[in-house]
Amino acid sequence: MAKFPLLFTVLVLLGTVTVHAVLYDRPCRTDVPVVQNFELTRYLGKWYELQRYEQDFETNYDCAQAEYGLEDAASVSVRNSAFSLINETSQVALGSAKLSFPEQEIIQAKLNVSFFGAPNDRSNYWVIDTDYEHFSIVWSCEQLAEDRSNEGFWFLSRTRRFTDDLEANTRAFHAIRQYIDRTEIRFTNQLDERCPDF
Ligand SMILES: *[C@@H]1O[C@H](CO)[C@@H](O)[C@H](O)[C@H]1NC(C)=O
Ligand SMILES: *[C@@H]1O[C@H](CO)[C@@H](O)[C@H](O)[C@H]1NC(C)=O
Repeated sequence: MAKFPLLFTVLVLLGTVTVHAVLYDRPCRTDVPVVQNFELTRYLGKWYELQRYEQDFETNYDCAQAEYGLEDAASVSVRNSAFSLINETSQVALGSAKLSFPEQEIIQAKLNVSFFGAPNDRSNYWVIDTDYEHFSIVWSCEQLAEDRSNEGFWFLSRTRRFTDDLEANTRAFHAIRQYIDRTEIRFTNQLDERCPDF
């Protein structure tokens, strides 16, 4: 019977690891495109999160915002803020993002983002499409094992309520339809009157 508690512990541990991630039994996809000739300076400033795949670090948080500030030509400061509508507490995460491959002739919208001073050693923030003025569709993949990966997705908007601009709508929802698993999407509440303006 000694085996049983061990198995139970393993299951519980796996459970806590997997609950708030989107895991796939495959390597990271290589067919996901990113914006070419990415213009980092136009991408700066504030973004409101409208949708995401649920992730450990922001589970159950709403009102999420990201603010990017220029550090130098190839790197930006990151300030992610969110508010829990359940217990009315905020969380803020400070980080930095660097262009993954700044030496390339055509700059691709791939960034290495890390928080709390960790090294920027993973190309983990890929912009599938953005018009800089209304929307950004961000995708991420971490290879966990040969046939195991964890994906992230964020739909960012310049406004709390998404624009009516037809082209922005067409492009944003096209990218989501093509590359995002809509059954995994969590919608972020931005319109609750308690959402702070971070
Ligand atoms: C508040 O709620 C969030 C989820 O909405 C949770 O992650 C966090 O731990 C809670 N904080 C406190 C102080 O209970
Ligand atoms: C970003 O991460 C990738 C590995 O995913 C690495 O090859 C690249 O050198 C990193 N870029 C920077 C600027 O550190």
